[in-house]
Amino acid sequence: MLIKNLQLINFRNYRNEKFDYADGINIVSGGNAQGKTNSAEAIFYLCTGYSPRATRDKQVIFRGEERATIRGEAYSAFGKVEVEIAFFGDKNKEIKVNGIPVAKIGELLGNINSVFFNPGELKLIQESPEDRRRFMDISLSQLSRSYFYSLQKYKKILTQRNNLLKTEDRFLIEDTLPVWDEQFAAVGAKIIRERNEFIAKLSPFAAAAHAEITGGGEVLSVSGDYKYGGDEGEIAIQLKDALKEKFESDLERGFTTVGPHRDDLKIKIDDTDVRIYGSQGQQRTAALSLKFAETEIFKDKFGEYPVLILDDAMSELDKFRRERLIEAASKMQTIITCTEADSVPNYEKYNNIRVSCGAVMR
Ligand SMILES: Nc1ncnc2c1ncn2[C@@H]1O[C@H](COP(=O)(O)OP(=O)(O)O)[C@@H](O)[C@H]1O
Ligand SMILES: [Mg+2]
Repeated sequence: MLIKNLQLINFRNYRNEKFDYADGINIVSGGNAQGKTNSAEAIFYLCTGYSPRATRDKQVIFRGEERATIRGEAYSAFGKVEVEIAFFGDKNKEIKVNGIPVAKIGELLGNINSVFFNPGELKLIQESPEDRRRFMDISLSQLSRSYFYSLQKYKKILTQRNNLLKTEDRFLIEDTLPVWDEQFAAVGAKIIRERNEFIAKLSPFAAAAHAEITGGGEVLSVSGDYKYGGDEGEIAIQLKDALKEKFESDLERGFTTVGPHRDDLKIKIDDTDVRIYGSQGQQRTAALSLKFAETEIFKDKFGEYPVLILDDAMSELDKFRRERLIEAASKMQTIITCTEADSVPNYEKYNNIRVSCGAVMR
């Protein structure tokens, strides 16, 4: 996967700017709040239709303007692809792939693939299971549109099931719940099966990436919850049993406490929980290793690496780890943002782009 260029019109602090990216490593440098992350965010939008910062679409429009546009040209194994997204203050964004409007985000997914890392991603290690599920969901949605559609369906069913539990109308609940549970288990099982497969692949890749960055100094292991296993039919049965078992307590709480929306990933370094015992640098390395592992899964599935975006990933890493990181990133097109270009070892060898006040310096 190769992003050739990116045009930003009234997007964040950019008026009208064009970025040209090279194959291999690209360094986007500039002082604080100059627009580095904004440009990285735009690329992620072109890939997934969402902001990695999880902000609302409206907020990306240059303050006081009514419309923002991002446009990018990329090349994949399938050939050239152009994606354009227009944002409006008062209506939904419009997405075009090769000039043709797409009605659903699902149709955008998979055209340009990327893996995004930014310091916020440390939440992946430090914070709630929600962040780790989000990591899996973003990745799996790009890898498989059917996963994305299952996830959307699951969220709807979950909301409806929870609403029903909240009615406190026991008769209605006992009458309707079995129907919801049937659907819940079927869609939930799809999600869990795909996540299980993802984790099974991710785990050895993450260990290898971590060994590469740390020079073999530490062993990273990633595992799932293993509450549910087997094929989809078996998982569906396990889910239904779990729903039954928790029925009374779920009814009392008014929400569903079993299912893929409660899953988690376990991440350990040298057999101790990174979340609790890892240093900042170790946690950052572990989070980066997960991202590198993700790129390998893309490579495995599509035969080519995604675009790797490393937003502000260098700080807190020692020189040794930074060198290793660049070496690992050299396998694919990588866009690195940082305040000082020379924090990237051998930066002169790469495509250097400098941004200042929402402009590309030429
Ligand atoms: N909708 C917007 N309109 C104008 N400026 C914006 C908008 N959204 C963010 N900005 C500006 O973008 C800047 C931050 O850019 P960012 O890319 O996050 O910085 P950095 O270079 O540190 O990564 C801030 O100055 C912020 O005010
Ligand atoms: Mg930034």
